[in-house]
Amino acid sequence: MSKTLIKNAEIVTVNEENEIFYGDLLIDNDRISQIDSHIQDIDVDKVIDARHKTVIPGFIHTHIHLCQTLFRGQGDDLELLDWLEKRIWPLEASHDEESSYYSAMLGIGELIRSGTTSVVDMETVHHADSAFQAIATSGIRALSGKVMMDYGDEVPLLLQENTDTSIQESVDLLEKWHGHDSGRIQYAFSPRFVVSCSEDLLTEVRDLSSHYNVHVHSHAAENTGEIEIVENRTGMRNVVYLDHIGLANERLILAHCVWLNDEEKSIIKDRGVKVSHCPGSNLKLASGIADVPDMLDKQLQVSLGADGAPCNNNLNMLNEMRLAATIQKPKHGPTSMNAQAVLRMATIEGAKAVGMENEIGSLEVGKKADLSILDLNDFHVYPSFDVDPVSRIVYSATSSDIETTFINGTPVMEGRVMKTMDKNI
Ligand code: GUN
Ligand code: FE
Repeated sequence: MSKTLIKNAEIVTVNEENEIFYGDLLIDNDRISQIDSHIQDIDVDKVIDARHKTVIPGFIHTHIHLCQTLFRGQGDDLELLDWLEKRIWPLEASHDEESSYYSAMLGIGELIRSGTTSVVDMETVHHADSAFQAIATSGIRALSGKVMMDYGDEVPLLLQENTDTSIQESVDLLEKWHGHDSGRIQYAFSPRFVVSCSEDLLTEVRDLSSHYNVHVHSHAAENTGEIEIVENRTGMRNVVYLDHIGLANERLILAHCVWLNDEEKSIIKDRGVKVSHCPGSNLKLASGIADVPDMLDKQLQVSLGADGAPCNNNLNMLNEMRLAATIQKPKHGPTSMNAQAVLRMATIEGAKAVGMENEIGSLEVGKKADLSILDLNDFHVYPSFDVDPVSRIVYSATSSDIETTFINGTPVMEGRVMKTMDKNI
């Protein structure tokens, strides 16, 4: 058992009332056990003086491909389907056990340095086990799974899977990793997108995700060409088709959702499907701007992700929050997507997406101690001005402002020094 006391901090709770609390926070083993203006007279193993510093919940990044970290920079000149066929799929096919491990480890290093404590990850067809090893070693909280792709002529031979093998390998990985380290690691079935999946495969995934009570992680309505392929094959829009299969439910996390029509939005809302908004990737791949204010008006559940390194060049959720806010303002006006709303998308809404809103996503007594300590004092504000700390975080903070990050009460980065990563990363 170990106790760490963080003292004199500005605590951005992201609780229901979005309270900002000034005082102390006690970490007891893996959980937050007390938040109070002054905690004293207790025995602790360590005290961190956080005077003039800010404590925030760890970011929950709901769509990434750790396997793509090594492919950063691959293309700002192709739209989605060409980019997959010409660049990304051949590169994914070239991965081996070792490169998959290092790709994941390097990505996790960037994530932890920029305050992300949980990810929803999609791996390659092969070598997903290596990514799970990296996740296990690094200490990050993750839902991950091998990507499934058993359909389509465009898929390179090396990645083409037989339906049964795809299912069997997924189940083997699930049985090996789901629940590892007291639930820090979970399995998520990962049919890549309808374009690359047969109906048999999607139907099996529906049954297995319900049997094992695990999430399903996929892409949908990212690009107009992708939508056309799905419509030509099924006669339906992406989300309508997923609903027709029976996959649209509260365990489904759909990345992008740029081009949803009203019918798809109402399915997403009614079935409790979770949307992962990836603004940086949607801009770089010229996919479009997802109308998130409209989704929120219609009560869809939207969280935030950065997507893989080649889609964005940046895995940093601080960057993603800033984009999520700023890209909407020209169309929806200055009050749309305020700083509180995007911070909630990056934290508590992510927790809801992974079904862990009682465990992570805000700084509250009893929750897991997944949090970061930021030093935002590089920004000179007139001392008597009343500056909203959340606005300061969303619009000004960079990863170098993050000094310390805890996951499950363990310091994974302390004083900007990574603690849990392999020494040779
Ligand atoms: N759709 C299917 N696969 C991918 C991928 O790897 N990245 C993105 N951005 N979209 C996808
Ligand atoms: Fe993606």
